[in-house]
Amino acid sequence: MSREFYRISRLPPYVFAEVNTIKARARAEGRDVIDFGMGNPDSPTPQHIVDKLIETAKDGTAHGYSISQGIKGLRKALAAYYDRRFNVQLDPDKEVVCTIGSKEGLASLAKAITRPGDVIIVPNPSYPIHPYGFILSEAAVWYLAKDLNSPEPFDLMKELKRAVRDCNPKPSVLVLNYPCNPTTETATLEFYEEVVEFCIEHNIWIISDLAYCEIYFDGNPPPSILQTKRGREIAIEFTTLSKTYSMAGWRVGFAAGNPELVGALKKIKSYLDYGTFTPIQVAATAALNGPQDCVATTRELYKNRMEVLVEGMHTAGWMVEKPKASMFVWAPIPEKYRHLGSLEFSKMLLNEAEIAVSPGIGFGQYGDTHVRFAMIENRQRTRQAMRNLKEFMKK
Ligand SMILES: Cc1ncc(COP(=O)(O)O)c(C=O)c1O
Repeated sequence: MSREFYRISRLPPYVFAEVNTIKARARAEGRDVIDFGMGNPDSPTPQHIVDKLIETAKDGTAHGYSISQGIKGLRKALAAYYDRRFNVQLDPDKEVVCTIGSKEGLASLAKAITRPGDVIIVPNPSYPIHPYGFILSEAAVWYLAKDLNSPEPFDLMKELKRAVRDCNPKPSVLVLNYPCNPTTETATLEFYEEVVEFCIEHNIWIISDLAYCEIYFDGNPPPSILQTKRGREIAIEFTTLSKTYSMAGWRVGFAAGNPELVGALKKIKSYLDYGTFTPIQVAATAALNGPQDCVATTRELYKNRMEVLVEGMHTAGWMVEKPKASMFVWAPIPEKYRHLGSLEFSKMLLNEAEIAVSPGIGFGQYGDTHVRFAMIENRQRTRQAMRNLKEFMKK
């Protein structure tokens, strides 16, 4: 009997777990660890959304299996959101599917569209499910290396063209994520137009992950790839309520766009799940259709925290770029510690400054020069962390 399970053996050790273990130990010893680790929003979900959940949960007829593609009202609400936010008109029956959080949707889509041996293009570093959804579906991944030690800035189009030229078999899917977790890079509509035209020419599907499209700090709302002239011919886009409405635990996400990709995702999901609990879907509908001032408040909250964090890091002598969007600061490890690598440096920050961050290596080998701060601590605690950091940097 084999004790090595094939798919499990393709997953590397989970580096975040090591930091989490040290964090748990430090807390058990009574130390006050300030946690910028996981991108898990700390704010409660807005009250009107919670109220809708409670109201609907009291209705016994809503307790059975739900619908794996999502209730129609929720799919219509997502289509209405795309209309008002991006001026993109979607057919809620053919071009929208609800997912159990976008992470589940990304993994299920990978399973639905991958033949063993297909080549998928994914930037590195990236959010882990982007490559691993496909690796678990027996694809080969061609990484677009964001090599931050390289003297030239990363140029996705250039790397994409090189991949298509050199790769055999030709790649079938490209994964994009702007605003990016972890690097916080953003994209313009012109950039999306160029990628879409190129991918149409080379028969490459595009998966766009737009998880952070409502968390932006420079007054420029990030665009959707579906706004491009021909995006819908080849692209599917994932969105989520997790960050926009602080609903990470509720597990509500969406995929929208190309009907063939949406259809494939719907079909595989109809075999795999029965959808999110109906009262949650009803409350999610209220989130999208209801008052949107809570979204502006959340955006402002992260912006304030980002300013405190970046200012504090600069005062401590750690120069980082201000992110334009996302809930992260992607920080190059200070020169004198860079040789340690991101995991050892993260452990050092935890042990010596009581600050928990995510080591960049957890997002791929090209992330090892950085650590990621998630802005999930309030301003006072962020300030406290920056005082600790200043002491640490002085040593
Ligand atoms: C880029 C990106 N995509 C997707 C997700 C997952 O979102 P969800 O809660 O909808 O599964 C995350 C969560 O951190 C993320 O950073």
